[in-house]
Amino acid sequence: MKRTVTIILMGFGRVGRAFAHLLEEKRNLCAERYGLELELKAILELGGGTVFSRHQELSRLLKNASPRLQDDLSWNPGLTLEEILPKMEPGVLVDCTVSSLKTGEPGLGFLNKALECGWHVATAGKGGLVFDFKNLMKKARTKGLKIKFSGATAAALPTLDVGLYSLAGAEILGIEGILNGTTNYILTRMDQGLGYEAALSEARQKGIAEPDPSMDVEGWDTASKILLISNAVVGTEFTFRDIKVEGITNISPEVLRAAKEEGKAVKLLGTLLKQGNQFAAEVRICPLEPGHPLFGVSGTNKGITFFTDTMGSISVIGGKSDPRGAAAALLKDILNIYR
Ligand code: HSE
Repeated sequence: MKRTVTIILMGFGRVGRAFAHLLEEKRNLCAERYGLELELKAILELGGGTVFSRHQELSRLLKNASPRLQDDLSWNPGLTLEEILPKMEPGVLVDCTVSSLKTGEPGLGFLNKALECGWHVATAGKGGLVFDFKNLMKKARTKGLKIKFSGATAAALPTLDVGLYSLAGAEILGIEGILNGTTNYILTRMDQGLGYEAALSEARQKGIAEPDPSMDVEGWDTASKILLISNAVVGTEFTFRDIKVEGITNISPEVLRAAKEEGKAVKLLGTLLKQGNQFAAEVRICPLEPGHPLFGVSGTNKGITFFTDTMGSISVIGGKSDPRGAAAALLKDILNIYR
């Protein structure tokens, strides 16, 4: 028997659009393999949105040449999430909006409203979770709902799935991660002799750097990810105040050259270390020895290593860093909510 899952999508930027297209592409697979009819019922942006009464309306919108939702004839100015949430059978709210890491908004408001109305959440946005992780999780728990955020924690690279499921029962002694594709790509290209600006420009062309890449290159994207992974997997209650953050904007070619001469590879790592009973998190530039599991992770690839008491060290490497990879992480989370 098939089950229908109602989905509301917040945000129709690069990731939001990729997600809507991926749902179309994987519609039959989701139905056949998982018995789930994933129905995207509405797409909202900050100034309004569109509600679809029939699936054909969504298909038509996605075939439309203009990528702007506002240009579509179905655009309903002023339409809000509050208005539509209570009118639909609760399913999953997918948040692809870009939220402030300082206030959590607008994502925080969307997540809270969705949970209050009985909807699960799958988010690629980090702001709301970074800002108010503890309260959001508590709210979801008391209502028997799920908040999934693979899309906010290195997306296509499985980080939470490994930390939460595969390492159950193990003590996590530390985590090291190359969690941002843009910085890893820039460091790789600089190691090959390219200048910083030229490498960043390539990362933009590849669609991995954000339109405003400051969060990527200043280390805040990595900081958000290690913070969320740590809070979810080892139960810390970190906010940005608890993390020392270094970016790659001022890295000199000499640092890369010196590391290369010693046979090392320079990486921007998000780290978590257990000291006694306390955990400390940091984002820092680190020359890795050839024996390190993340030494060979280059280009747009990412990677994470968990150090444990009973299972040794476990590393996962790879994962696309582009919007399609982020969309795939959202889809995975939705399927896993209902499995
Ligand atoms: N632009 C990011 C990256 C993804 O380079 O991996 C956003 O979290």
